[in-house]
Amino acid sequence: MAFKNLLRGAAVAAFLASKVEAVDNGLAITPQMGWDNWNSFGCDVSETLLLQTAQLIVDYGLKDLGYHYVILDDCWSIGRNASHNNSLIANPEKFPNGMAAVADQLHALGLGFGMYSDAGKYTCGGYAGSLGYETVDANTFAEWGVDYLKYDNCFNMGQAGNQMISSARYEVMANALNATGRPILYSLCNWGEDYPWNWGSTIANSWRISGDVYDSWDQPDSRCPCDGPDAWNCGLPGFHCSVTNIMNKASFIVSKAQPGAWNDLDMLEVGNGAMTDAEYVAHFSMWAAAKSPLILGNDIRVVPAKDLAILSNAAVIAVNQDPSGSSAARRWMYSTDSTDAYGGSALQLWSGSLKSTTGGQYNDMVVLLINGANETMVMNATLADIFVDSGAAGTARQVKISWEARDLWANRMSEAEAQAIIDASSATGNATNGYNATMVGSGRYNATKTSYAQGLKNNDTLLLGNVTTTVGPSGTVTATVERHGAALFRLRALPTGVKKRDEL
Ligand SMILES: *[C@@H]1O[C@H](CO)[C@@H](O)[C@H](O)[C@H]1NC(C)=O
Ligand SMILES: *[C@@H]1O[C@H](CO)[C@@H](O)[C@H](O)[C@H]1NC(C)=O
Ligand SMILES: *[C@@H]1O[C@H](CO)[C@@H](O)[C@H](O)[C@H]1NC(C)=O
Ligand SMILES: *[C@@H]1O[C@H](CO)[C@@H](O)[C@H](O)[C@H]1NC(C)=O
Ligand SMILES: *[C@@H]1O[C@H](CO)[C@@H](O)[C@H](O)[C@H]1NC(C)=O
Ligand SMILES: *[C@@H]1O[C@H](CO)[C@@H](O)[C@H](O)[C@H]1NC(C)=O
Ligand SMILES: *[C@@H]1O[C@H](CO)[C@@H](O)[C@H](O)[C@H]1NC(C)=O
Ligand SMILES: *[C@@H]1O[C@H](CO)[C@@H](O)[C@H](O)[C@H]1NC(C)=O
Ligand SMILES: *[C@@H]1O[C@H](CO)[C@@H](O)[C@H](O)[C@H]1NC(C)=O
Ligand SMILES: *[C@@H]1O[C@H](CO)[C@@H](O)[C@H](O)[C@H]1NC(C)=O
Repeated sequence: MAFKNLLRGAAVAAFLASKVEAVDNGLAITPQMGWDNWNSFGCDVSETLLLQTAQLIVDYGLKDLGYHYVILDDCWSIGRNASHNNSLIANPEKFPNGMAAVADQLHALGLGFGMYSDAGKYTCGGYAGSLGYETVDANTFAEWGVDYLKYDNCFNMGQAGNQMISSARYEVMANALNATGRPILYSLCNWGEDYPWNWGSTIANSWRISGDVYDSWDQPDSRCPCDGPDAWNCGLPGFHCSVTNIMNKASFIVSKAQPGAWNDLDMLEVGNGAMTDAEYVAHFSMWAAAKSPLILGNDIRVVPAKDLAILSNAAVIAVNQDPSGSSAARRWMYSTDSTDAYGGSALQLWSGSLKSTTGGQYNDMVVLLINGANETMVMNATLADIFVDSGAAGTARQVKISWEARDLWANRMSEAEAQAIIDASSATGNATNGYNATMVGSGRYNATKTSYAQGLKNNDTLLLGNVTTTVGPSGTVTATVERHGAALFRLRALPTGVKKRDEL
């Protein structure tokens, strides 16, 4: 019996050792980060918008936190050029200098250029799609200097309905991108149709798991069905999906996330104005812990200081960018409201393994408490529940030791500091307080200089936080969590055999 288990363990170890990143393009080894114009601008795109935003991403220190790709969404072309291999033509009014010039300027700022197309006859906005034109379009993108492709699912000519048909349609572009020889991050956007988490990792770096996100915490909307227990089996992805709707969908498929291939919970709504501060904190925490790509979806030119402070929290981003690359999982969820059929009001515990920062035998652990109730709650998570994957009913060895619990929101940048950064940007030309991202670099995390992996190894308190409580053996992590808010902790094992004074 023991021998059999040992063999199985060895086989698993061999499998893990041989496991390579899902797509062999070397990209998205941790979830990709960046900005996409869709959530706040829709079709209103231009060269000016992209370049202004890119400059602010640099000025506000967002680039140095890892937000790398500036992604142009739908509505940028005017059709194909019959005298040039039917290649796509950029709209000359929106992009007077052409796409290659945009790419050059983004690259000069140290950023990547993301492009949009559609695995259908038309894009969702009704522009020319890439179905049947994969090779010429991939070549065009590579020639322009594109680093990222978001690939949508509208007007797919009925080439959907089962996993083989959908994956084959998306694989044509995967092969065309690969054949260009240029590493281009491939971001599938088929809204969770035909279970892309089962096949996406073999051809792409990420796949959307739901219809489009909406700037709402829990608004029920018939156009985004499947809020209930069969959310993973959603025949109609829809749109106007609330944050809690998408969280529910993610909960079934967390095991599919891996280095190079991620569940995409869709672009962030932080900063778009319709959610409370607590809701945006919970939204950002959730996306980080689930290892979703972190793609800003707000108008950076008017970002409120409090939202810049959320998006700049390096300790939370470090959870997302953790080198071990495994998603947190939902451990429990229970409704606080018997009239709530879909669970938006639920209390939830998520936890997941992170790479050890103690150098010991125990991995760190992220603990996320979500309060969907309509009032502040004192929430409790037992070590038994947090570590249930390592042993049922409190039998895990992790339950028997002490942990320090570091509050990852405790060091959120103050609104005044965020406002000073905004006021001092070169774009507004307002340096009256002599403050800019380069100057405050010493007080903020700089992932361009020191990767998150290295910063974690160094025990950098900008990543670990400095507000610590201790949880004893078989103990409970407790937090007071605002209505629709979240608490997020990093647990680090305390040395065993050394009793802390307060436990004597
Ligand atoms: C193309 O695919 C091959 C085989 O998977 C891989 O080794 C190579 O790095 C890929 N190239 C690009 C540019 O993605
Ligand atoms: C069209 O594509 C072919 C094959 O890829 C290439 O040899 C040719 O130069 C292209 N023509 C133009 C006008 O770009
Ligand atoms: C179409 O391609 C031809 C041949 O390369 C080129 O001369 C022309 O400028 C292109 N038209 C547009 C609108 O880009
Ligand atoms: C980080 O902290 C842990 C636990 O406090 C300690 O064991 C380790 O040596 C520290 N690592 C560095 C590089 O300081
Ligand atoms: C939430 O609580 C507030 C008062 O605290 C109340 O006015 C509101 O109706 C409640 N909302 C729901 C959906 O119960
Ligand atoms: C958490 O524990 C505290 C203290 O035991 C208790 O007052 C509180 O009601 C608990 N919270 C929930 C949501 O059960
Ligand atoms: C410049 O900064 C000051 C102080 O932060 C602020 O009051 C003022 O509105 C800013 N002006 C502009 C043009 O942004
Ligand atoms: C930021 O401030 C430093 C120090 O005052 C200055 O050298 C640098 O030019 C400023 N950068 C920008 C982009 O304003
Ligand atoms: C971050 O580090 C890079 C590389 O060392 C440096 O070029 C950049 O100026 C730093 N950013 C800030 C805001 O200090
Ligand atoms: C954590 O660090 C901040 C800023 O460095 C400091 O103001 C705060 O007092 C520290 N908190 C604790 C509990 O050490």
